[in-house]
Amino acid sequence: MSPEPTDGSPRPVVLVVDDEDAVRATLREYLRDAYEVLEAPDGPSALQVVESRPVDLVLLDIRLPGMEGLEVLQRVKALDDAVEVVLVTAVKTVRTAVEAMKLGAYDYLTKPFDFEELGAVVRRAVERRALEREVLYLRGELARRHGFEDLVGQSGAMAKIYEVIAHVARTPVTVLVTGASGTGKELIARAVHRHGPRRERPFVAVNCAAIPAELLESELFGHERGAFTGAYARKPGKFELAHGGTLFLDEVGALRMDLQAKLLRALQEREIERVGGTHGVKVDVRIVAATNLDLRRVVAEGGFREDLFYRLNVVTIHVPPLRERRSDIPLLVRHFLAKYSREFGKPVRGLTKPALATLERYDWPGNVRELENVIERAVALTDGGVISPKDLPLDLLVGRQGGGAAGTLRAARRQFEQQFILRALERTDWNQTQTARVLGLHRNTLQAKIALLGLRREGPRSRRGPG
Ligand SMILES: Nc1ncnc2c1ncn2[C@@H]1O[C@H](COP(=O)(O)OP(=O)(O)OP(=O)(O)O)[C@@H](O)[C@H]1O
Ligand SMILES: [Mg+2]
Repeated sequence: MSPEPTDGSPRPVVLVVDDEDAVRATLREYLRDAYEVLEAPDGPSALQVVESRPVDLVLLDIRLPGMEGLEVLQRVKALDDAVEVVLVTAVKTVRTAVEAMKLGAYDYLTKPFDFEELGAVVRRAVERRALEREVLYLRGELARRHGFEDLVGQSGAMAKIYEVIAHVARTPVTVLVTGASGTGKELIARAVHRHGPRRERPFVAVNCAAIPAELLESELFGHERGAFTGAYARKPGKFELAHGGTLFLDEVGALRMDLQAKLLRALQEREIERVGGTHGVKVDVRIVAATNLDLRRVVAEGGFREDLFYRLNVVTIHVPPLRERRSDIPLLVRHFLAKYSREFGKPVRGLTKPALATLERYDWPGNVRELENVIERAVALTDGGVISPKDLPLDLLVGRQGGGAAGTLRAARRQFEQQFILRALERTDWNQTQTARVLGLHRNTLQAKIALLGLRREGPRSRRGPG
């Protein structure tokens, strides 16, 4: 979400809201050396800025045309209560001051400005904001260490994702999680739910790609009795089930156009209509959507409504593919190793160096899910307490032979042979006669190789398709 540079610390962002050009110009001049200064002449445009980009502090004139300062304050806080707001007035009245503090303003300045005071207040507010962010981040960190969180990874990309999760979770803002298949989008959606005030309420997931379009409408919005053949009783939809909690719209890019229109209406009106229903039903749900498509492109190609896209894409969390954050691989491996050795009751201690190197080199087109499957299979296959390359699938071993291939040619050939024969055996369901024919070997030779290479049929639990 935040386009902060990862190198040095970015300048804090201060939004100056005042209808007088001269006042904005003065403040800009004064602040721009130390801060990035944004400006807005009125309440609505101020809210637009806060909604569309990270802001640390709002300097808010209390007397604005149209929307009053105190209302702007309230709305800013509703959007993101971590944003600090300092009110600016021409006259100091105790009543306004008290009200402002009650609504969450950080402090209070009077015009004409005492620049020393202004500087001090802005600095303190921004510092507090930075501190708060850090606390949030650490809280997320702590939660993970205590096992509330099953998200693993300490790469820069993941750290940023944790920060965004901790930050958006407390707000009701709609989140779009994007990333390739198997990168952990659903896990992130759940984390957003679990870190927020709705954690005790339901998290309801709908996979828009998995449910036939004819059924999806009733799945989402429910139906009344007799709405269609087979609708024997009224059934609540996922929106209603998620009331008070979070609705996770998975694979939202797969939504058919007519349902996109209905979803948009539901999001706008905060109200749904059951299939066959005659009146709206109020629902209060927090929406997290996910897609592995480049939704912007789908919009450009006319496959997804632009207005719906902007409704969903208020905050984006993009999860990069695993190959772009390889430093997470060893941590994930350890995590899954522990998980499956527990599950299979097989104490597997770790991986040999070449095995880990193989995993670190591989491209992981199926991302974390593929890695998890590989480890699950390896734990099932291994006969020792350690995973070695022979426990890994062939694709991983032959995928990249260049560069750092470890070991002798003979060992590599043996590994290759092992995996190649194993694969052929699996394909024929261990029919040795058939396998021998496929491989162009005599059956006795195949049997000798099976013994020599220590090939064994894997357990029924060790295979798992995607999903
Ligand atoms: N950072 C992570 N830490 C631990 N486990 C992870 C992580 N990311 C993904 N996983 C695991 O990988 C598997 C796939 O994750 P998930 O289902 O969240 O991916 P996805 O992005 O929703 O994939 P798809 O687009 O295919 O639905 C799950 O079993 C999940 O637990
Ligand atoms: Mg998913």
